[in-house]
Amino acid sequence: MTKTICLLAQKGGTGKTTLCLHLAVLASELGRKVTVIDIDPQASASAWKRRRQRDTPEVLRREVGDLAGVLADSGREGKDLVLLDTAPHSSHEAATAAELANLVLIISRPAILDLEAIGESVKIVKKQGSQGAVVLNACPPPHHSGETAIVREAREALGVYGLPVSPVSVSQRAAFSHAFIDGRAVTEFDATGKAANEIRSLFEWIETRW
Ligand SMILES: Nc1ncnc2c1ncn2[C@@H]1O[C@H](COP(=O)(O)OP(=O)(O)OP(=O)(O)O)[C@@H](O)[C@H]1O
Ligand SMILES: [Mg+2]
Repeated sequence: MTKTICLLAQKGGTGKTTLCLHLAVLASELGRKVTVIDIDPQASASAWKRRRQRDTPEVLRREVGDLAGVLADSGREGKDLVLLDTAPHSSHEAATAAELANLVLIISRPAILDLEAIGESVKIVKKQGSQGAVVLNACPPPHHSGETAIVREAREALGVYGLPVSPVSVSQRAAFSHAFIDGRAVTEFDATGKAANEIRSLFEWIETRW
């Protein structure tokens, strides 16, 4: 069965597209048939795909109204994973995408202004009855002894929303943006690096959510 993940955040720049494409490349490397559907008018995922030298993952630029049809096609074509990269500030489109997904990942940075801004996305997830979770992105990298206080406090603050928070957070690392320059992802750019390991851990955790 095709699994669909919707990456959501009403706030701009939290890392929806970044996590979407890194996860899509990793899943392709693992042998999954992957499609990214770019429903953001900014079309950043599509621009990345144009810079990319490889056929996989497939990236389709579509309007939200086309989503149900495209997802039905993906099912018929035997796709394993579809990732929906959504636009910020778009409650209606976001709600439609969330409703069609098996799992909604709300992406937030660990700073208070970002954490406070996820209320609208949480409402969408709860209203649609979708399975959802929050993923903290662009976090200060962990110390040897574990997560930084900023990340621990962010997890605590997220408790009020009553949604699971991914135990894997993604750090602020230059590799995540450098890899995109020529249309790659961190698992290709620096396969044994810390950024690639974080994406692998995040994907492993996602797979426990189905
Ligand atoms: N973990 C990270 N480490 C370093 N840079 C990051 C990370 N996550 C995101 N960025 C950078 O932050 C910026 C915003 O990321 P991105 O475009 O993925 O966010 P977005 O949520 O898709 O934005 P939009 O809401 O505009 O669609 C980009 O410059 C990206 O390279
Ligand atoms: Mg984006």
